[in-house]
Amino acid sequence: MDAKRGIGKNNDLMWHLPADMNFFKETTKNQIVVMGRRNYDSIPEKYRPLPNRLNVILTRNKEFQAENCLVFNSLKDCLTHFENENERKVFIIGGGEIYKMALDANCLDEMFITYVDGVFDADTFFPEFDEIDWKSEIIGSQSKDEKHITSFKILHYLRN
Ligand SMILES: NC(=O)c1ccc[n+]([C@@H]2O[C@H](COP(=O)([O-])OP(=O)(O)OC[C@H]3O[C@@H](n4cnc5c(N)ncnc54)[C@H](OP(=O)(O)O)[C@@H]3O)[C@@H](O)[C@H]2O)c1
Repeated sequence: MDAKRGIGKNNDLMWHLPADMNFFKETTKNQIVVMGRRNYDSIPEKYRPLPNRLNVILTRNKEFQAENCLVFNSLKDCLTHFENENERKVFIIGGGEIYKMALDANCLDEMFITYVDGVFDADTFFPEFDEIDWKSEIIGSQSKDEKHITSFKILHYLRN
């Protein structure tokens, strides 16, 4: 998210930050990624489903299908489906509606949040949450350079 909690605009990301993308790729590799239907739509066709991880889409549309993806009509159904999953983690990977739903449902054990420096005129935001419920640690950072239009820090949060 940017300095005003912005995460997207016009159903797209607002930055290209290869080191952050690489962190996302490595962290979610071989795991389960759960995304909102709009997030799924925003991924260029040639890159979806995201490779080497199980892609799960949430939609209210009971007819919705996407090749090689699992689809659920509620977060509850999705989490129930994976409740006996021992090998892989279930990552909620946005966008804004899905982040909010997961935070409101109180179903998160940990979070990885990249704080991007600057403000990018977003139309979609990461929800407010109570820092008091979490302990956090900085696990990565990147300076502005020729590949990164801005600097950022990555924080890992664990529920208290
Ligand atoms: N920076 C980041 O970390 C990050 C990560 C991911 C995405 N993004 C950005 O976020 C934006 C997309 O976010 P968004 O908030 O517009 O959409 P979203 O959260 O990706 O998806 C919203 C969709 O999820 C489905 N949904 C919502 N609530 C539901 C529920 N209770 N049960 C079942 N399905 C439900 C609905 O699909 P239907 O309409 O099909 O019913 C809804 O339209 C884009 O700009 C994207 O680039 C940023």
